[in-house]
Amino acid sequence: MTSLFDLKTGYPDQKVVPLKRFAEISAKVLRSGRGWQYGGDLQGILPLREQIAQFLTRYSGTTVTPNELIATNGALNAIDIVCRAVTQRGDVVVVEDPTFYFVVQVLRLSHVEIIGVKMSDEGIDLDDLKRLVDRYGERLKLVYTIPSYHNPTGVTATNRDALAQMAQRFNFTMLEDSTYQQLYYDTPPPPYLKLSDESGHVVSVGSMSKLLMPSLRTGWIWAQPEQIQRFKMFRDDAGSSFTAHIVADFIRSGEIAGQVEFARNFYTRKHARAIAAMDRYAPAWLDWSAPGGGFFIWATLPKGLTAAQLQSFADECNVSFMPGRNCYVAPPDDQHFRLCFAMLDEDALEQGIARLSEALEAAGKQL
Ligand SMILES: Cc1ncc(COP(=O)(O)O)c(C=O)c1O
Repeated sequence: MTSLFDLKTGYPDQKVVPLKRFAEISAKVLRSGRGWQYGGDLQGILPLREQIAQFLTRYSGTTVTPNELIATNGALNAIDIVCRAVTQRGDVVVVEDPTFYFVVQVLRLSHVEIIGVKMSDEGIDLDDLKRLVDRYGERLKLVYTIPSYHNPTGVTATNRDALAQMAQRFNFTMLEDSTYQQLYYDTPPPPYLKLSDESGHVVSVGSMSKLLMPSLRTGWIWAQPEQIQRFKMFRDDAGSSFTAHIVADFIRSGEIAGQVEFARNFYTRKHARAIAAMDRYAPAWLDWSAPGGGFFIWATLPKGLTAAQLQSFADECNVSFMPGRNCYVAPPDDQHFRLCFAMLDEDALEQGIARLSEALEAAGKQL
């Protein structure tokens, strides 16, 4: 059912897209004769890799070079490539439980066994990860994590060095999804998880979807040059050289820093409005916390009330939310839900939260 107030979908707001500049740059790319032919290089065209390298050098504080990168069709494509490269049918891939549910769908295509690891306020629960290492041994090849502004919980991992050490010690690949790394709303997150490792056990993927435009399908894999040469063999499509040139030209023009600031400030305002609305309208018994960045508020219902029960009240109020159970490999219960504050306009966001709060009050009367 489509609702008027969509707090369910995790899409960015179209208003972040630098439309005028993209129109100018696209025309320039076409007129220059670039970007109409097949992409060619499965590593991604060099001009784009050079610019992603500049971007990562700026935002990671370490020098990144084009031979450490594959330019991919978004972060999801990057995750698929890494998974296929490091696993074989029947291997175990660990994901945070809950996690970004599309990733689980992508990983399933590799015919691996997907196991959830518990999360704490610090990120992955290391004791639980150790339990899985002991249980699955060498079958455990990959751990996928979203260390900054996790989707859906909003948690930011502070145990990064310990995580990287576990990957080294037990010889699995730790896959960092850095999609929200630049979208912090107060203080910056800790450095990229990849910087906690020099041994090649941490591989990082990222995306321009939230900073520029999802339909560019521009993301990357950042790994050691030898790993990149291997990962490249698991790629079957070089992607669009047209959008690659657009992104490359945009970064090269120097506008990316202003764009990142714009996106950050834009979502900071929405975040503030969403938090204020939650403070004002949400029932006191609802357990939720304000994320330090990203797009999502994660809430926990009291015992005796499930997201499925809340659903019919929310439908009545014409507002939607993401049931937390959709984000789990093994749902512990049906007590959670996710709200995305990125997509709706600020006024609609406030109204949506007010309506959801009405639904919560009504559902809570059943308690
Ligand atoms: C954690 C995370 N990774 C990846 C993506 C998708 O990235 P892309 O559009 O680059 O495939 C999303 C989008 O919602 C996300 O939340």
